[in-house]
Amino acid sequence: MNFPYARGRRLRTSPSIREMVAEHRLHPSDFIAPVFITEGKKVKEPILSMPDYFRYSVDLAIDEVKSLQDAGIRSVLLFVKVPDELKDNSGTEALNSGGLMQRSVQAIRKAIPEMVVMTDVALDPYSSFGHDGIVEDGRILNDATVEVLARMSVSHAEAGANFVAPSDMMDGRIGAIREALENGGFPDTGIMAYSAKYASVFYGPFRDALDSAPGFGDKKTYQMDPRNVREAVREAMTDEAEGADIVMVKPGLPYLDVVRAVREAVDVPVAVYHVSGEYAMIKAAAEKGWLDEEQAMLESLIAFKRAGADLIATYFARKAAQKLKSS
Ligand code: PBG
Repeated sequence: MNFPYARGRRLRTSPSIREMVAEHRLHPSDFIAPVFITEGKKVKEPILSMPDYFRYSVDLAIDEVKSLQDAGIRSVLLFVKVPDELKDNSGTEALNSGGLMQRSVQAIRKAIPEMVVMTDVALDPYSSFGHDGIVEDGRILNDATVEVLARMSVSHAEAGANFVAPSDMMDGRIGAIREALENGGFPDTGIMAYSAKYASVFYGPFRDALDSAPGFGDKKTYQMDPRNVREAVREAMTDEAEGADIVMVKPGLPYLDVVRAVREAVDVPVAVYHVSGEYAMIKAAAEKGWLDEEQAMLESLIAFKRAGADLIATYFARKAAQKLKSS
């Protein structure tokens, strides 16, 4: 049927019709909320490059996670800021069963048992070099790092983590972590793999938040080249084959084509990480009065669903969930 019988605008006539024919929807269950944790008591520290986002001590992180739950959020992704004196080249502190991550997981699981707790698994917050792996002669060692990541994952599982989320991009780590979890008696602990994680400038504000910027060089020998998409598909398929329960693409908006390609290549759920720099851009433009923050947030988030993402890690999780509840 052609114009004038076919008129695309008929389906846009009223809010009710538009609601009926919407192809994608956001729901609070779509969101994973990152939570930054620091040592101390009653600490709530602002992060300069991430307006309205904070680092919390464990006691206040519990209140924060409770309020995320009240907003309808089902999952949190924990990151810790490690004091400089505990950093070394082999991730010793990452394996400490009484370390900040392990204590945080225990406390949150106990206080809010329904919340799905995911933990970041990578060495950079623990590394004196700010790299995601063990450094030798200026190179990042793959296999030695994978061994530590597997032990770190078991340590998080012991503390009660529901999912471990390796964000390091070493080769073979998903298989090694899966095997270590099985052997350690944690068959139900899941793995959300950062499968296609690009070497991106958009992580800048996050590195401020955790004081984890690389001390030398960059992360290009392990994180992916932004020019590649077939490689992302291969990484995601490899991780799925090694036992990843969820695969992730990161960053978000500049990589929607990658989300779509990965969605079509794997059967496991696909997550996308709407990263710190993307958050900061919206916040900064909104502060200047150049963009409407809420509309920019919702339009970004629905774009992830349209591209094929099942889950969205985003610093807007609470705000978006609250908005969805009230509308
Ligand atoms: C570190 C890690 C990073 C992020 C999540 N885990 C930074 C990096 O790789 O340098 C970025 C998150 C964000 O920017 O929001 N393994």
